[in-house]
Amino acid sequence: MYKIEEEERLATVEETWLFPEQVSIKPFLKWAGGKTQLLNELTKYIPNNFNKYIEPFIGGGAFYFHLNPRKAVIADLNYELVLTYRTIKQSVEEVINLLKTYKNEERFYYDMRAKNPENLSNIERTARFLYLNKTCFNGLYRVNKKGQFNVPYGKGSGNFFNSKVLRDSSEFLQNTEIEFADYSDTLKKHAEKGDFIFLDPPYYPVGKYGDFKRYTKEFFYHEDQLALKEEFDRLVNLGCHVILTNSNHPVILDLYKDYEIKTIETRRMINSDAKKRKGIDVIVIGG
Ligand SMILES: C[S@@+](CC[C@H](N)C(=O)[O-])C[C@H]1O[C@@H](n2cnc3c(N)ncnc32)[C@H](O)[C@@H]1O
Repeated sequence: MYKIEEEERLATVEETWLFPEQVSIKPFLKWAGGKTQLLNELTKYIPNNFNKYIEPFIGGGAFYFHLNPRKAVIADLNYELVLTYRTIKQSVEEVINLLKTYKNEERFYYDMRAKNPENLSNIERTARFLYLNKTCFNGLYRVNKKGQFNVPYGKGSGNFFNSKVLRDSSEFLQNTEIEFADYSDTLKKHAEKGDFIFLDPPYYPVGKYGDFKRYTKEFFYHEDQLALKEEFDRLVNLGCHVILTNSNHPVILDLYKDYEIKTIETRRMINSDAKKRKGIDVIVIGG
């Protein structure tokens, strides 16, 4: 019995490799700056052939899960997020079993939020992160200066996890290296000629609410955008296929003026002010 199940499982993995576009899955997290709306556009720039896929600002990973690459490296500077990917890769059943015991109730939420993640096991920490992500107000990840998650209860849609999505994600992640690292370290270590690289950094701030996207304790400053452009050039010269997304800010348009740039109108889901929910994203295509 076990043997047949195992063979079926391997057959599914084979198919995954042969027909990546047919087994795309949705991300298991809601993440500020999620790329779900841009997927159709981004798909146009997938090269016919590439060695491995690298996404060093992974966030919710919408494009990674859409692409389903055969071999990949994903990374982020948000430790809780990286730990979540690693634990789903290694111990998804334990995470699901724990989530089954959780309740979508205000009291339960605040008790869970009050726990210090550093005192929890990796399984508990991951389940807490997934739970807070789906039940907090607007699915917004925000921490205070001490790095503590401080978003109020938001109820969400009721179902705060989907076992199938988590299991599928775990399977996708089996051929993926997951790094807790600054994007430049990830790229220096892993990028090689022929790789396909998607760069989705914190966007250049536009307007009054521009500093809204505080994903980690650290910000991504003007100087960081300039350094990222240098890295973009290096990767293109190395022979990588690179695409980058950012906001439609004059600084970004000027920085990347020597490359092909596409502009796309998107809705900003995570913003309490409805008028600020529309924006323009740019996609820069290099190599
Ligand atoms: C725009 S979000 C990525 C969105 C994601 N691609 C998606 O589809 O949901 C940017 C991510 O970059 C991470 N980040 C910020 N600064 C970083 C750095 N210097 N190196 C690596 N990751 C960083 C943040 O933690 C955040 O998860």
